Amino acid sequence: MCLGQGGEEMRKERVVVGLDVGTTKVVAIVGNIANGTIEVIGMGKAESHGLEKGVVVDIGRTITSIRKAVEEAENMADVKIESVYVGIAGKHITSINNSGTVSINRPDRIITEEDVRRVVDTAQAIQIPPESEMIHIIPRQYIVDGQDGITDPVGMTGTRLEVDVHIVTGAITAVHNLVRCVESLGIGIRQIVLEPIASSLAVLSSAEKELGVVLMDIGGGTTDISVFRGGDIWFSKVIPIAGEHITNDITVGLQTPIEEAELVKKQHGTALVDSVGEDEKIEVATIGGDEKKTVSKKKLAKIIEPRVEELLDLAMQEVEDAGYRDLIPAGLVLTGGTSLLNGITEFAAQRYDLPVRRGKIPQGIHGLRDIVESPIYATSIGLLRYAVETKDFKKPEYYDRKRSSSGSTITKKLMAWFNRFFRG
Ligand SMILES: Nc1ncnc2c1ncn2[C@@H]1O[C@H](COP(=O)(O)OP(=O)(O)OP(=O)(O)O)[C@@H](O)[C@H]1O
Ligand SMILES: [Mg+2]
Repeated sequence: MCLGQGGEEMRKERVVVGLDVGTTKVVAIVGNIANGTIEVIGMGKAESHGLEKGVVVDIGRTITSIRKAVEEAENMADVKIESVYVGIAGKHITSINNSGTVSINRPDRIITEEDVRRVVDTAQAIQIPPESEMIHIIPRQYIVDGQDGITDPVGMTGTRLEVDVHIVTGAITAVHNLVRCVESLGIGIRQIVLEPIASSLAVLSSAEKELGVVLMDIGGGTTDISVFRGGDIWFSKVIPIAGEHITNDITVGLQTPIEEAELVKKQHGTALVDSVGEDEKIEVATIGGDEKKTVSKKKLAKIIEPRVEELLDLAMQEVEDAGYRDLIPAGLVLTGGTSLLNGITEFAAQRYDLPVRRGKIPQGIHGLRDIVESPIYATSIGLLRYAVETKDFKKPEYYDRKRSSSGSTITKKLMAWFNRFFRG
């Protein structure tokens, strides 16, 4: 944003923009931030054709979509967008937990910000897959002389400082292609944010995160999974299967064009075969013809249910493999466009015997209500929230290409950008 003196710039200083470059749509949302609350003042949306499974595969088409979404948002909000918080997903994303330790040797033993930096620095000294880079290094808790559960150790006294971190990595090429698309439009990137983290900030309550909860953002091309416990993120993963796969199955199963399959899914689809009566019928278009044909709604449900089952099972398997299956009493929260599918929450609740709800945007967000409330915009709204959460940091560091290539003190070797991230 414009940072400077004077009335106009002062007003813009509080404007932040979230850019969600999804597989089916690109969304730019402009928020005005005042006293920690966000007022949505503009939104732009464009169809997305340059991504596959959450990853940019066609730079030109992606740029076109981003340009359209950004221009629309600029017009609505009447601001010039100069920088954005951009979300990233894709199956190249992996996460690991690690810890680090430093000793405090000065006579006063008072922990400084520099010590915090040092300890986080040691925690990120791990092997990451080749061709990947760190996207987030999220300090989960600090431990001072054995006392754990500390969120901010600065000013405390101790001789030994430890940190537990959650590290998210992504493929260098995937990250850089996304960066190129945004930067080629003359827009700066304040921060790249893992989409599951953004979504979680939009739809999870502190109580759920405290208790233990799984968030699944089921979009068009990817399902983003994240697990929270004790207020912190413990696990994040992106799997390349989502709503488009359901649509494809309908296309094949009903022999109907893809646009029709998409419509039918939204209007008549359900994840619960048993909820549909034998005699319920719908009309669908045929491929290459003008005429419609009649099919039973049950047939449609029989196509959808197994795909949903497979998708959710794969996601739950990830949770299980990571060891969190029995640590999520708050259950499952579903968001993303596919969470709007009829019966999906009920299906999941029955199958996994867990509480399941559709994500709703919590307090602190106002403005264009229909946007703010739809699970389709959870990621973009979450990006705005991320901006708010990180704003109060004493020294926020954010993605800066010049810095990452020339090398900052902490991040040089790994081209990471250290990102202090607080509980949402
Ligand atoms: N009412 C509905 N019922 C069923 N599915 C729906 C409904 N509304 C939207 N969807 C599906 O949601 C998907 C799009 O969701 P979303 O906008 O969250 O995806 P995206 O962010 O573009 O993609 P991704 O996050 O995977 O990169 C599409 O597959 C669409 O068919
Ligand atoms: Mg998405």
